[in-house]
Amino acid sequence: MIGCMEFVVSRDPRLPIHYLFPSRSRKTQPDPVIGRATSYHFWARNALFHGLGSLGLNPGDTVLVPAFHCSTVVEPIRHYGCEVIFYNVHRDGVVDFEDLARKVDSQVKAVVAIHYFGVLQPLQKIREFCHHHHLFFIEDCAHLFMGESREGPIGSVGDISIFSWRKFLPIYDGGMLVCNHAQYQRAVPWQGLSGWFQVKIVKNLLEKCLSDRATPRLSIGPNQRTEFPVQGAVSHDGVGEPFHVNTHVPEFDASQLNWPMSRWSRYITEHIDVSKIMRKRQEHSSILSQALGELPGIRPWSKAGEHRVCAWAFPIVVEHRTDLHVELRKRGIQAFSWSGVIHPTLDLAAFSDAKFLYEHVVLLPNHQSLTQSELHFMIDTVKGVL
Ligand SMILES: Cc1ncc(COP(=O)(O)O)c(C=O)c1O
Repeated sequence: MIGCMEFVVSRDPRLPIHYLFPSRSRKTQPDPVIGRATSYHFWARNALFHGLGSLGLNPGDTVLVPAFHCSTVVEPIRHYGCEVIFYNVHRDGVVDFEDLARKVDSQVKAVVAIHYFGVLQPLQKIREFCHHHHLFFIEDCAHLFMGESREGPIGSVGDISIFSWRKFLPIYDGGMLVCNHAQYQRAVPWQGLSGWFQVKIVKNLLEKCLSDRATPRLSIGPNQRTEFPVQGAVSHDGVGEPFHVNTHVPEFDASQLNWPMSRWSRYITEHIDVSKIMRKRQEHSSILSQALGELPGIRPWSKAGEHRVCAWAFPIVVEHRTDLHVELRKRGIQAFSWSGVIHPTLDLAAFSDAKFLYEHVVLLPNHQSLTQSELHFMIDTVKGVL
């Protein structure tokens, strides 16, 4: 199945072929927290692992992690040797400070807070909480490209913060660790990527290019893109992953821990126009917000326009059903939910709010390559399904 079809509206941005050619307008890497110490890792999960080392955490220490999470946040912490204890987040996505306080004991050394798909955490309040309890604050910005909250630039308030470039750009890999205090900076024992993996990355980038409609002469054979709009071809059960290019890899692979961001991904990130990407994504977000905000039974989860941030996907809360993303996928829209990325150690029955979020938050594609017709196809399809 893989390789022979694709979604009509994909979750990931396209890779126009000109991104691969040398360009005079070479820029620097995206830098959301200017002036802070940063390191570029293969995955954001690896950045988190190395961040624990920068903070001087010891195996056996406890880290508090939200019950609404992706397992890639939990795995690096456990691999480091720390214990993970989960805390509640309310249905609006915000940290439940009462539960957080209940979970603090002498073993707890750090709190991870996630800015979910544009739902921002109260940074100063978490900062004060951590200060009061002598804890480190780890700000997880993996769902944000960059931007400003009312409390400062995203990623600048935590003791450390992490970013995941591969969610926003047409690249294979790419994560970043930001150390907001010079004393937390620590050298990473970098290791080169294996030759086999470099081939895999180049192949993936070429596939991205071939699947871009802007490179029609290269679109031959199985990657031929059908004309829009069509019913997107999907795998036999309607929910599996047909051909797509920016694979979400939920596994934690310790053999890749010391890999830097690949040179291919760095090359592409150095040729992109950050402000254009932000503008496009924010525009799409407000179109979706306006069109979907009026529909009964669903509501946008984040308040678009309230903050100047740029989120990975557009989150909606679907009040009375749990299958909207499945129905959208059957119709060619690569919507997704987080129900498949829960860490197996989470006792979901103890976290009714997280359970609600896993079941009812649906993430719609919201990237810079979406066309107006794709946006409207998505809006009409959501309306139709509802
Ligand atoms: C909240 C959050 N943090 C961290 C990560 C890890 O990012 P990466 O896939 O780049 O390792 C993810 C992955 O989806 C995530 O959702």
